[in-house]
Amino acid sequence: MKKITKAVFPVAGLGSRFLPATKAQPKEMLPIVDKPLIQYAVEEAVAAGITDLVFITGRNKRAIEDHFDTAYELEAELEASGKTALLEVVRGAIPKGINCIYIRQSAPLGLGHAVLCARPVIGHEPFAVLLADDLMDVDAGQKPVLAQMTDLYTQEGASLLAVQDVPRAETGQYGIVRVTPYKPNLELVDSIVEKPSPETAPSTLAVVGRYVLNNGIFDYLEGLGKGAGGEIQLTDGIAALMKSEQVLAYRYAGRRFDCGSKLGYLQATVAMGLKHPQMGKAFADYLEQLK
Ligand code: G1P
Repeated sequence: MKKITKAVFPVAGLGSRFLPATKAQPKEMLPIVDKPLIQYAVEEAVAAGITDLVFITGRNKRAIEDHFDTAYELEAELEASGKTALLEVVRGAIPKGINCIYIRQSAPLGLGHAVLCARPVIGHEPFAVLLADDLMDVDAGQKPVLAQMTDLYTQEGASLLAVQDVPRAETGQYGIVRVTPYKPNLELVDSIVEKPSPETAPSTLAVVGRYVLNNGIFDYLEGLGKGAGGEIQLTDGIAALMKSEQVLAYRYAGRRFDCGSKLGYLQATVAMGLKHPQMGKAFADYLEQLK
């Protein structure tokens, strides 16, 4: 089975839910403690053996390119003042041996369209998609979520969607799958629909922002019209792919923070703050004192 070495990061979204913080900076650059959201997703991809990072960007997203590039002046300053630990932090944002590729999505036509923009770079290989809004956390010693999925892909060879149960009232925020049991934590997808209302949702099993997709998806995305919300939806491409091959839903091990919502963002900040190697203890003491 082909190894997954390429990942797509759709980062062209406007981030309107975080205005005014996102007026002049991409939402993917909002920090959780001291790292931007996009860096968490990139580190997860690299831990899964991804070597080519394909960012689908848009207007106002230059900060992402700068973040994963050398910062000459800053590095020179840190070096001259002997701040070697900070210098390592700055340099560490770009993992060694990794290629960053940027493609502009010239109009916000939807997630399916964003993924299709990556086609010339992906070629004929299977690939991963990571939505940086979804910060995936795992316990110490546990494999990161994308690595769980790429490992599973080498066994199954089928496209994989990370899924979790959500309250029925929230189905309208997600792609929702109907499934048949297959293996532990792994189900056969029978149908998928984008953002159904709680009344019409076929289940409460929601797709979260991690996918491993077979290359055949591109042909279907190519032919898609507008779906939910007037956008070209990745979910509709997956529904079309299911006509020719089985797609699997994977109940990942770990915890997801929906950093596209303010509450999820705050929850992630607390969780990552508590885990932080330098600040964790002091932050835990502070929270204790608030009780
Ligand atoms: C996107 C997808 C949706 C998926 C969700 C996961 O929606 O379209 O199917 O469930 O990501 O976060 P968005 O959050 O961009 O509206």
